[in-house]
Parts: sequence; structure tokens; C-alpha cells
Amino acid sequence: MRKKIVAGNWKMNLTLAQGEQLINDILQAGLKLAEGQEVVVATPFPYLAKAKSLLKNYPGYFVAAQNCASEKAGAFTGEVSAEMLQSVGVDYVIIGHSERREYFNETNAILAKKVDLALANGLKPIFCCGEPLAVRQAETQNEYVARQLEESLYHLTAEQLKQVVIAYEPIWAIGTGLTASAGQAQDMHAFIRGQIANKFGREAALHLTILYGGSAKPGNAAELFANPDVDGGLIGGASLVAADFAAIISSL
Ligand code: G3P
Repeated sequence: MRKKIVAGNWKMNLTLAQGEQLINDILQAGLKLAEGQEVVVATPFPYLAKAKSLLKNYPGYFVAAQNCASEKAGAFTGEVSAEMLQSVGVDYVIIGHSERREYFNETNAILAKKVDLALANGLKPIFCCGEPLAVRQAETQNEYVARQLEESLYHLTAEQLKQVVIAYEPIWAIGTGLTASAGQAQDMHAFIRGQIANKFGREAALHLTILYGGSAKPGNAAELFANPDVDGGLIGGASLVAADFAAIISSL
């Protein structure tokens, strides 16, 4: 059975004290995770070690970085390497979020390097894909996402792919309150799973966890997660409110 995951992407929000409070409030909710269910908290870099220490006694709760460098080490001022993240106990790393693709010019080729470095350092990539509004309106979203997968993941082995989680985040749904419909999410998730099956085999595709991200909220999470190819969510705004994040987790 493939993992079901709710991951909270804090983005560039909260002070350390606010982040600690948020994690403690989430833990206070006392949610019981079923076998195969995971909660991931993606904090800004400075809080990762603290988050890991707060979560260490809670099985099923993990920490993610929101990015890693595309170089192994060296004179790259301000960058944070996959090895550094592994050294503070980080479990997952979000790679290819649309905001990094847009604001920091991260190409599919650069993201392939980040995936490789994450895997080489024992981190599980949460690889983000998804189309802009104009592509959705042109109804070419499948071709767009297929290219993202091909150029950043198809160089991997089937064994390596087992460590990868894919997050489908239609850009037009991120932070807009305009959530993809359950049907739209299911269609794209099924398409992604089909592409992975064609490339890596049926077993690899069935094992792959595919998350939905883009205005997922307590009011729509259950409908989204009820779909056969939606294995959880990558949550932005709602992950900053403990009660909302807990409600979404409860929808898994
Ligand atoms: O990475 C998750 C994020 O992009 C979704 O943001 O605020 O629409 O849930 P939001």
C-alpha cells in the first residue's frame, strides 16, 4: 500500500517561536495516524533542526526542507546543500515548487540535479509539477506536466523512484482559493501515474504517492482525498493554522 501524506509547506512565514507554537498545537490535536499515513512539516531552513527535535517522539511525523542546492558543496553563498539538510535530520525536500521555478528560474534540468543530490543524501524528494492557467485554458496541461516529469525524473532508476513523492500543484490554484475540482485533480493524478507506469513499470506507478496542492482546505480535502489517485495533499496557507491543518490530516 502506498503512503498517504499531508505535508504543510510554510513557505516564507512565521518566526521560530510561532513555528514552535504551531507544531505544538498540531501535536496537541492528538491525531492518530493509521498505518502508512504520514504528516510532513516543511519549515524554513532555520527551523528545521528544531522542528525535527519537536517531532522526534511522534511516529509518522516528518520534516521537509522547501528546497536544496543544485550543487554538492562549495562557493555558493547563501545556498543550503542536501548534505547539510541530511546532517540535521531532514527527511523530505520539496523540489521544483512553482514559486521557485518562477522567482528563481529553476529549470527542469536544474531540478533533475536537485533530485539526484537529494537522493544521494538520503532525502526523499517531493517533486512538484503543475501547469499555469494559460496552459490549462489551452487544455495542454497533460503535455506540460509530462515534460516536467520526463526532464526531471526519467533519468532515475525504478528503485530510486521509490523514494520520490510527486505533488501536482496547478499554478492557477496556488494561493488563489480556486481549487482544482476533484475530477480535475483525479484526472491529472491518473495521467501522472500512467506516465510513470509507462516509463518505470506498473509496480513503481502503484507504489508512487501523488499529492494534490493548490488551495486545499478543510472544506475540500475529504473530497479531494477520496479520489483513487490522490494520496494526500501539499498544503500552503491552511498549514499555518493548526486547526485547519489538523482537519485536513483527519481527512486522509
Ligand atoms: O506547496 C503548497 C502550496 O503551493 C499550496 O498553497 O496556499 O494554495 O494551499 P495553498
